[in-house]
Amino acid sequence: MNNTYVSTGRKILLSVPLVMTLLFAGCGDNHKAYRIGVSQPSDDEWRSQMNDEIRREILFHDDAEVEIRSADDNSLKQVSDLRYFVNENFDLIIVAPNEAETLTPVVRDIYKSGIPVIVFDRALNDTSYTSYIDLDNVGIGKEAAKYAIGAARKNGGAVVELRGLAGSTPAEERHLGFTSTLDSVPEINFIGTFNADWNAQPSARLTDSLLASNPEIGVIYAQNDVMAIAAAKTARKRGRNDIVVIGTDGAPKLGIQAVEDSVIDVTFTYPTVGDRVIKTAMNILHGNEYEKIQHIPAISFITRDNAGMHLRANEVLAQKTEQLEQMNSLNTLMKGRENSQKWIIYAISLASFLLLAIIVGLLYFLRQKNKYQNVLADKNAQLLEEKEKKEQLFGQLEEATRSKLAFYTNVSHDLRTPLALIADPVEKIEKEKYLPAGDKALMKMVVKNVKILRRMIDQILDFSRYENGVAKLNLREADILALVDEWSSNFIDYSKRHKIVFKINIQETDGAPGNQTMAIDVEKMQRVFFNLLSNAFKYTPANREVCVNARFEDSFFVLQVCDTGTGMSKEEMSKIFDRFYQVDRPRPKGSGIGLSLSKAFVEMMGGNISVESEPGEGSCFTVRIPVSHSDTEYNDSPLTFDSDIIEHVVPEKSTFSESDALAEMEKEKSEKPLMLVIDDNEDIRALVGLMSRDTYNVIEAADGKEGLRLAMKYIPDVIVCDIMMPEIDGLEVTRRLKEERITSHIPVLILTACRLDEQRVRSYDSGADGFLAKPFSELMLKARCAALINNRRKIYDLLLEEGADTSAIFRKEIPEEKNDSRLALDNDFYRDFIRWVRKLYTREDLSIGEIAEKFGIGATQLTRKIKAMTGNTPVEIIREFRLNEARKRLLTTKDTVAEIAYSTGFSSPQYFARCFRDAYNMTPSELRASVK
Ligand code: FRU
Repeated sequence: MNNTYVSTGRKILLSVPLVMTLLFAGCGDNHKAYRIGVSQPSDDEWRSQMNDEIRREILFHDDAEVEIRSADDNSLKQVSDLRYFVNENFDLIIVAPNEAETLTPVVRDIYKSGIPVIVFDRALNDTSYTSYIDLDNVGIGKEAAKYAIGAARKNGGAVVELRGLAGSTPAEERHLGFTSTLDSVPEINFIGTFNADWNAQPSARLTDSLLASNPEIGVIYAQNDVMAIAAAKTARKRGRNDIVVIGTDGAPKLGIQAVEDSVIDVTFTYPTVGDRVIKTAMNILHGNEYEKIQHIPAISFITRDNAGMHLRANEVLAQKTEQLEQMNSLNTLMKGRENSQKWIIYAISLASFLLLAIIVGLLYFLRQKNKYQNVLADKNAQLLEEKEKKEQLFGQLEEATRSKLAFYTNVSHDLRTPLALIADPVEKIEKEKYLPAGDKALMKMVVKNVKILRRMIDQILDFSRYENGVAKLNLREADILALVDEWSSNFIDYSKRHKIVFKINIQETDGAPGNQTMAIDVEKMQRVFFNLLSNAFKYTPANREVCVNARFEDSFFVLQVCDTGTGMSKEEMSKIFDRFYQVDRPRPKGSGIGLSLSKAFVEMMGGNISVESEPGEGSCFTVRIPVSHSDTEYNDSPLTFDSDIIEHVVPEKSTFSESDALAEMEKEKSEKPLMLVIDDNEDIRALVGLMSRDTYNVIEAADGKEGLRLAMKYIPDVIVCDIMMPEIDGLEVTRRLKEERITSHIPVLILTACRLDEQRVRSYDSGADGFLAKPFSELMLKARCAALINNRRKIYDLLLEEGADTSAIFRKEIPEEKNDSRLALDNDFYRDFIRWVRKLYTREDLSIGEIAEKFGIGATQLTRKIKAMTGNTPVEIIREFRLNEARKRLLTTKDTVAEIAYSTGFSSPQYFARCFRDAYNMTPSELRASVK
């Protein structure tokens, strides 16, 4: 019911996380698209100015962020900084290599791995970079040299150079520019170049010792402002205020301030290219154009004249930068707010969505519930209506049953007297000694069937008594176990005859028979017992088992009748105690009241009856009657039961065995046609056999399967077959016979108890040649069989006569256009037979067995089939064929008679002449002579 809407509701709820994921996927993304790593070799004023520029510039690029690391003048640390950027998947690396030697291979690897690299300020030993921003260090050196020359000329002092870290390219290049210019002015006293590694301490130390050893020094050129300030301060300490100190870098807070403060004399600007490296980086990342190598000229120097202006300009720049940063943080704040507002919106949206989903879900639930309730209401109404109808029908059925029962009761009463009048005389006649054997068997059958009829009538009357409430319980104290034992013995003989294992298991509680008495209606109990036991035998085939168990258990008498017979399905089991229900079995159908009557009787005695059964395994009926006692003893003479009246359902072996029939056929060598009777009822088989034995050799089959086997084996001249049989019924048997080449010609007469036209039509559809309704007389049976055999022959004769070729053999082939479809198979068969004859007749040793083999059958079968169809045996037909061929050759060739005899399969000319004369009333030579 609600499966549908439960699962729909679940679907709505399940979709919530998905919607949430979708909603939040677009929220609060603080990650920039690009990350840029900047690796600086050191951390001084010039670097920090440049880093400020970098940070300022990056503010203009919303999609990028930078991380700046300083190596603190340590190449190995710089290597590890670079590795960090690589490992952290930075998108681009900007590097000023501390020393070219150590850093070149590392940067090369990074570049080769596909990460863009921008090198600036300090160079590498090769070109493993995406872009290189080349600052004009040689130019700075040259400009510084020019200033030094002027100063030296002015103060007449010697010149000394303090160099940066050896191995870092600006140190080398500035030195190159400085010395190359200085060298061009020979009068200048250049003391030399000393390594101070870009740092203050080595610079101070060196200056101190240089001034001590070279008091003529008047100009100091330091390659950066850090070294210049340290040198100037050291000189001053030594009282050397006259020395001109030249610095490099021009960072406002260091170099320019030192100039402004008159610590040093001049500083040459080394451009910080923070904005440029970022712009280049963004171009690379965005796939825009960029220059691979950018040369930046060093253009200015700052002296005491313009230092103040530079400082002020720088202050303005600093303010602007601050404003910009403020704006940026404001912007970030706004963005943050925007983000949190977005979150609120998302949260509200989500909540609304959930609410909506719940509402939709609820509405859906309600709708489905309503629908379901409506459906339920409809169903209830329908059920009620059906119930009423059923009750009405049941009432009608009850009424019909009652009137039927009344009718049958009346009829049964009426039948009882004539039946009694028939029973006595026939029993007497049966016992007469003078009766011929055949008639005696018939009388036995009559007696048996009269008994069956009597039993049926008794049952109907009992039942009607019970139904009308007239049945009385006649309880008397009886030794029930002894009675069951006695009743069972009535069946021992029957069980032996039918080869059924019969076990009687009476459990006396104290070991002494006869001591177990109880109050019971003996007559009713006996009926119940006989009914159960005869049913058990009825449905049990030979070599299986029937078992009776009787005992006292607690305060109950328990009777069990079990068999290992055909068993029942669950459906059958549920109905067998219903009135008039018959298990749908071929035969005997019985009236179907036996079991319901048993049930009624058992219930009258306060007991119950139950059944357990498995199809193919057998059934077990259990009767339980509570033990009570009575003062009146049972001492009537016992009733007997004639077990012979059990109509055995399971097919019994035929009375006419095959070997008997064959022996008879052989013995009599009779011309009597062979009849096969297929019927599961032993009496019918016996009856047909008795009726037909004087005219036919009769063989019997107790079921369809056996019938088919015998038909194939013996090719009977006629088959009489019952319609209702277990497993393969008569129609199916007929259909299979008509489909088989060797049995297709055999006329089949169907026996039916049903006079309905539909069954006749069905019989004809299956290929049956005629039907005979039961009961039938001997005369009728014989007449129908004879007519079928003759008609069949006549049909062939008629068709053969109408054939174009009048010669004896060829006209036996049925012409195509006359070919009745029901005879098609036979005609084909005959045609094939003639074909083989035509092919093989020249061979003298040709046998019927050889031709039969071609059809996959035996010689006798072939003979019987051909004889049935043509009236001639295959041997006769072959001889006729040979003579006909020989006759043609006598008339049309000049071959000798002997040649013709051998070539047409005759063993000798003499035998040929004899046969020829028999056939044509003249010798072969006379025939030749007659036409000359
Ligand atoms: C700063 C610095 C500057 C110099 C540059 C050369 O680290 O020492 O003073 O001009 O590096 O690369």
